[in-house]
Amino acid sequence: MKKLFIIANWKSNKTILEAGEWLQTLNDLQLTINKEEKRVIVCPPFTLLPFVKQSIVKGQLLIAVGAQNISPFDEGAYTGEISGKQVKEFADYVIIGHSERRKYFGENDQIINQKIEMATKYNLIPIICISDPAQINNLKIEKGAIIAYEPLFAIGSGNADTPENASLVGEKIKKISGGIDVLYGGSVTSQNVNSFTSEANINGVLVGGASLDAQEFSSIIKNA
Ligand code: PGA
Repeated sequence: MKKLFIIANWKSNKTILEAGEWLQTLNDLQLTINKEEKRVIVCPPFTLLPFVKQSIVKGQLLIAVGAQNISPFDEGAYTGEISGKQVKEFADYVIIGHSERRKYFGENDQIINQKIEMATKYNLIPIICISDPAQINNLKIEKGAIIAYEPLFAIGSGNADTPENASLVGEKIKKISGGIDVLYGGSVTSQNVNSFTSEANINGVLVGGASLDAQEFSSIIKNA
């Protein structure tokens, strides 16, 4: 059985109070997660990383922590940036190159490659987002990285790609990248998650909007 990644991307959402309620709900649901079968990762904004990490350790939840971004530079005089060294104190994964970063913050392949290098330097597993398989030809994808295929039309639209197409894209990406794990992202819900995770070339899902609600996210974990 293949191992699945179920990743929550909270984007710019949640206060400490709201994050606490989310974790509490997940805890109360007493979800049994088999770590060998499903790797659940929550990616909160930077402000919540310490709180979420500490709460997970305290509650002994089987959830890993990821950041949503990382500085393209190492530690130093880069006002407003969070370096890989700082991220690593709380997280084991980092989302890199999300299409919203390309669209709103001018990130290009060069910046994304610098970020991948920083993730590698600090032993963070990069979850590299692409909207088209051709993009990976310009990116430094190394073994151990995770690629999330997220077509632009599907993000936040309620209009997911078809599982068949996502799987074809997954197959293509695996061929180019040498068999790296490929996730699907874009309007994943508890209703459609299994149609994606049951595809041979899809190793999990990256969930935005539907991950904000703890009940819905736990159903996604269950149904995956
Ligand atoms: P969505 O976002 O699930 O809200 O479509 C996915 C993402 O942007 O990672």
